[in-house]
Amino acid sequence: MERKRIAIGCDHIVTPIKNQIKNYLISQGHDVVDCGTYDTVRTHYPIFGKRVAEEVVNNNFDFGVVICGTGVGISNSAQKVKGARVALVRDLYTARKAREQYNANIIAFGGRITGPGIIEEAIDIFRKTEFKGDQELVDYLDGIIPEEANKNVYFKKQLDKWDKGEYHD
Ligand code: RB5
Repeated sequence: MERKRIAIGCDHIVTPIKNQIKNYLISQGHDVVDCGTYDTVRTHYPIFGKRVAEEVVNNNFDFGVVICGTGVGISNSAQKVKGARVALVRDLYTARKAREQYNANIIAFGGRITGPGIIEEAIDIFRKTEFKGDQELVDYLDGIIPEEANKNVYFKKQLDKWDKGEYHD
């Protein structure tokens, strides 16, 4: 199994779940960096979403894992960091597609919504899946092609392709 470098973070609502997932990943042989929070004292999810995203974007982690109560707050916070591509995942199909089509580099969960069995398996699928999608689309989402966005022709090439019936999924 290929060893991965993984950054993980959570808010105070789900610290015990984060610890469980972290221990699982370590037991699988991965190199895991815990970006906090480390206890159940009230804090704020954006701190840890941002921290994990910055680590992933700047420090060559293979990917990040973020968890809060619903997954909504921390996934949105992480997504605000340029270069972060965050997928809020509740099922195994989404875990695979998030990587395959979107090249997500952060997987997010709601620890009060999704159980540890699904979280562990979703991370396994996420780490094994290769990106097979359209790099240009991902670049748009990353804001790498801003000139077109500013001219209001955002996704024009893809929309033209769609009109011609060239998209099949
Ligand atoms: C608690 O701050 C709760 O709002 C948080 O864990 C999360 O569910 C937000 O999306």
